[in-house]
Amino acid sequence: MSQSTDISYLRQLVQIITENVDAIERLAYEQGVTHPTIDDLCEPTDARETFTLQPDVIRASTLATSAASQLVATLKLPNLVLRDRANAYHVPCALRIASETGIVELFREAGPKGMHIKDIATQAKVEPSIIGRVLRLLATHYIFKEVEPNVFANNRISSAMDTGKARSKILSMTRKKVESPAGFNDVVGDKYLDTNGIAAFVEQTTDIYFKSSACLPELVIANDYSMTALQKAMQFDGTFWDFLNKYPGSLQRFQSALGAWNRLQPTEVHAFGFDWPSLPEGSLIVDVGGGDGTEVFAIAQIAPHVKLMVQDRDQTIQQVTTPTWLGSQEKSRMIDSGQVTLLAHDFREAQPSHLVNKPAVFFMRHVTHNWPTNEIIHVLKHLHAAAPPHCKLIIADQLVPHACPDTQTAAGIKRVVHPMPPAPLLANLGEANAAMYSLDLAMTLMFNSQERTLGEFKEMTEAAGWKIQEVYQTARGFFSQLVCTKL
Ligand SMILES: C[S@@+](CC[C@H](N)C(=O)[O-])C[C@H]1O[C@@H](n2cnc3c(N)ncnc32)[C@H](O)[C@@H]1O
Repeated sequence: MSQSTDISYLRQLVQIITENVDAIERLAYEQGVTHPTIDDLCEPTDARETFTLQPDVIRASTLATSAASQLVATLKLPNLVLRDRANAYHVPCALRIASETGIVELFREAGPKGMHIKDIATQAKVEPSIIGRVLRLLATHYIFKEVEPNVFANNRISSAMDTGKARSKILSMTRKKVESPAGFNDVVGDKYLDTNGIAAFVEQTTDIYFKSSACLPELVIANDYSMTALQKAMQFDGTFWDFLNKYPGSLQRFQSALGAWNRLQPTEVHAFGFDWPSLPEGSLIVDVGGGDGTEVFAIAQIAPHVKLMVQDRDQTIQQVTTPTWLGSQEKSRMIDSGQVTLLAHDFREAQPSHLVNKPAVFFMRHVTHNWPTNEIIHVLKHLHAAAPPHCKLIIADQLVPHACPDTQTAAGIKRVVHPMPPAPLLANLGEANAAMYSLDLAMTLMFNSQERTLGEFKEMTEAAGWKIQEVYQTARGFFSQLVCTKL
């Protein structure tokens, strides 16, 4: 087409970037802060970092990053884009090396002048040339900084992975790792405890998900779902949960990574959406697969007049939920008063008879995405059988948008929706929203499961006797609540 059309397309993208950077700078000016640069260190309590977490700042930066990514994809030659995407596997490989050799902690101790690769090699007991090249690849992707030739230091992104622990401690724990038959490293020790969870998230992803991802194409091409990619990669027969039970370091890493994931979510995902305070006095909310009870605690605070139950697997209730609740004065008071109860129950079984016809709400957050559709339908049918006529089922999970507009599927559903991104951005904000699609495929690697579109949620809930009435979406993401009633 004509040159002017191309220019107009590029300029539309540039304009979105300019408008949103202007908005961020205006907000920063009003609040007397500046936006951090990539060369700063990530200090979570720093006013500049807390500024970046404000809803208006996130909204503007999401639009700007969406436009910037689309601009790069437009300006870069197609074969270079494909080459970069096909080679992207080097990044998780390098990230895992850096995290597991304690480089981030080493650089924290070295300070802003950084450290020469020969000194890194001596301290981390690795070969200097390879560690230099690993760090340069990461610095090229804006993780770490090469301050002078062969001298590297932390930057804003690498420092976000800091466990805060002494490097010597990290290294001694990493060396105690236990090799499983599949070569999986089960780090035994408290490496991930009392951290922000980001190192756990990075290592979980770059270790077992990365290996599993390499096995997925063969399974998909062979149309073979008799095993998960994780089972194939790890040469493990059991479920993902069995895997965590078998390797204690892996369970610790997963839980810590989950904490990081929860913290990455905008704060409004907690107890948002449904009007919890509107429930009548004494109503029972059952959080099915409630984990450590984070959400029950959030709801208990805004609706102190309702009763809440955390339901989860026996191991989780015993090893995670109970210690979490008894370890906090505020939470144990809720247990003592009977406001909150903890119940070990396998949700693949019928709900216990003492709960039949009692709950006002069955709530499930980040649970349906762990299960293949046919299996979760079975669970939802059990909830349906135990639900009184006016009971609500509230599913809180990612709602996957198509990469194009969809005006059809939502007909008849009361929706709180995101405004459509401005043209020419992709309807799902493209790379700015890539984490959702990574999570979607991670579900496939672990469980042969998935994140779902609205259409997929409709089919799934209707097959179990539930109908989606309302959808709430967070302002800053596609984390959603689907409020269903009995059909
Ligand atoms: C991703 S976690 C979500 C936890 C919590 N709802 C949250 O949002 O933080 C999934 C939860 O489902 C639980 N789960 C898995 N299989 C289960 C089963 N068969 N019965 C009950 N809970 C189960 C896990 O133990 C875990 O706590």
